Amino acid sequence: RIAGPSGLTIFGVTGDLSRKKLMPAIYDLSNRGLLPPGFALTGVARREWEHQDFGQIVHDAVRENARTTFHQSVWDRLAEGIRFVPGSFDDPGTFDRLAETVKQLDTERGTGGNHAFYLSVPPAMFPTVLSQLSRSGLTEQAEDQWRRVVVEKPFGHDLHSARELNRIVNEVFPEDSVFRIDHYLGKETVQNILALRFANQMFEPLWNAHYVDHVQITMAEDIGLGGRAGYYEGIGAARDVIQNHLLQLMALTAMEEPVSFSPGNLRAEKSKVLSATKPVGPFSETTARGQYTGGWQGGEKVPGLHEEPGFAPDSTTETFAAITLEIASRRWAGVPFYLRSGKRLGRRVTEIAVMFKRAPHLPFDNTMTEELGQNALVIRVQPDEGVTMRFGAKIPGTSMEVRDVTMDFGYGHSFTESSPEAYERLLLDVLLGEPSLFPVNEEVELSWQILDPILDHWASYGGPEKYKAGSWGPPSAETMLARTGRAWRRP
Ligand code: BG6
Repeated sequence: RIAGPSGLTIFGVTGDLSRKKLMPAIYDLSNRGLLPPGFALTGVARREWEHQDFGQIVHDAVRENARTTFHQSVWDRLAEGIRFVPGSFDDPGTFDRLAETVKQLDTERGTGGNHAFYLSVPPAMFPTVLSQLSRSGLTEQAEDQWRRVVVEKPFGHDLHSARELNRIVNEVFPEDSVFRIDHYLGKETVQNILALRFANQMFEPLWNAHYVDHVQITMAEDIGLGGRAGYYEGIGAARDVIQNHLLQLMALTAMEEPVSFSPGNLRAEKSKVLSATKPVGPFSETTARGQYTGGWQGGEKVPGLHEEPGFAPDSTTETFAAITLEIASRRWAGVPFYLRSGKRLGRRVTEIAVMFKRAPHLPFDNTMTEELGQNALVIRVQPDEGVTMRFGAKIPGTSMEVRDVTMDFGYGHSFTESSPEAYERLLLDVLLGEPSLFPVNEEVELSWQILDPILDHWASYGGPEKYKAGSWGPPSAETMLARTGRAWRRP
């Protein structure tokens, strides 16, 4: 679907997200013909820039990071709709100028007065920006127009602050005009979880406590935190990605079939499963927390967190977190969900591994099945998007020996279509007013409710354990599973 007449204003255009993701995504959408011809992009920042200066910044970001081929004609058309409004966020004059610009764009570009405001700014700025948007009349919409707000995480740092943030946002924008970005929901493979589960017959009968032993959700990154201290220090891995990306992956994996894929029905099922989710304790045994030290990665010597600029020499921010959850429902009772994420781990991979129980009886003697593990269904979110199934097969030969083999589906092999970048899809959905892929405030609050007890425990319980860059996290992560006779997969 193509977006109708509209414009987008980004607050925080000097940030990384803007340059790496948002600006390139706008160009890619335009290149794919999914934006209206008169689309307008406005940047707001405290810089003495003219429209052309900002245009040049967008141009460079597009050349550097766009996914699709650069076409001068596409760029020229997009560039005509680029505006810049200089000023600080606490100056009402900035917003009066923005209101003037938005009005002019309607006449000059035919945006129809439809406008989305993207808050790519620290949450501490939300109240100021939102109240100024309201004061300057930018949130007012005529009957046939829309005004929407897009907010980036972190949505608070615990349940209490998230509620407060939601209250502030909802004071200015009604909930159906609020689009909270969790870019994992824009990823192709994440949406494929729903296709896999609900478009097929063969998985769902096994998708429950009768057959599933446990589920492992891993988001491993090989990058460190150089340059991100301003955002990450004091936040840590659990707040950065478990509260949002990983709990959303868990919700999609564990939820019941929605009545339909309408936004309301989908969100209702996610909320239901989140409200049945509890952290399993005692947290000293069922969770792990780590911080990377220097080491070798890909043949390169890399610094530890304490040597990264901006982090306190005694920083207790965790760069690795692992937790155990359970879902109180008939389907999942007794099945642990293990979630882990870390920086500077062995390799970059995000996957959901559904690990099945062992066969109740094996008519082989032990020597024949030494190399047989648990059956597994692994959804690879990235990279090499796809699905792998692991099961036992007979080793060719005269003796009856069984060993694990894998069957692999790869997006790259089976489809020629390229998938849009997550931000591309999500920005288009904002302009279309399609809210399915955006968590509602209830989901955000439920996610904090799950995490808060663990965060409280950690806060009163020493610092994170060290692990070497390039490893798979601290030893306590291994013991946390070993205690139950299980082990993490090595993706
Ligand atoms: C962001 C986190 O939400 O996701 C980052 O703040 C993380 O810390 C990033 O690096 C990972 O995104 P992706 O799409 O590269 O997996």
